[in-house]
Amino acid sequence: MAIRKILTYPEKSLSQPSVKVNTIDEDIKNLIADMGETMFNAPGVGLAAPQVGVNKRVIVYDSNAAKEDRDDSTKEFTGLINPEIITGSGSIISEKEACLSVPDYSADVKRYEKVRVKALDIEGNPLDFEAENILAIIMQHEIDHLDGILFIDRISVLKRAMYKKKMAKKQDDK
Ligand code: NI
Repeated sequence: MAIRKILTYPEKSLSQPSVKVNTIDEDIKNLIADMGETMFNAPGVGLAAPQVGVNKRVIVYDSNAAKEDRDDSTKEFTGLINPEIITGSGSIISEKEACLSVPDYSADVKRYEKVRVKALDIEGNPLDFEAENILAIIMQHEIDHLDGILFIDRISVLKRAMYKKKMAKKQDDK
């Protein structure tokens, strides 16, 4: 396992749609193992392959993200291949949503409260499950990455413009 570099906005791979995984080979398994380690190292609760520069439909998330009494010593992650949101229902505000690829920024984002997800596990077995609240938000956020969508694409035009201005200023200051 190795920690990979997390790319940040406006890196190109973050805005490109990712391709489906057809074969779960060693490369994919290594990618998933590295992504889990990279996510915990950041630290974060979810990570999508395009964030490490691989435009393939793979995500990982902290298996204990929804637990209230999280014990940071038990680091367990789940990898999903070709995850898809089949249906979404209800509506919640994801407060101060953030992303490892969008540094120094957070914003409230409107999300489904509950989603049904289909995916393959890392062995290629089909999964079909419901996620709600924090897990539903993680699913929507990470699967958005696979379509080249960042959470800043889901906030108001004005807020997004403010973020871009801030980033442009940061570039100038370098
Ligand atoms: Ni993200």
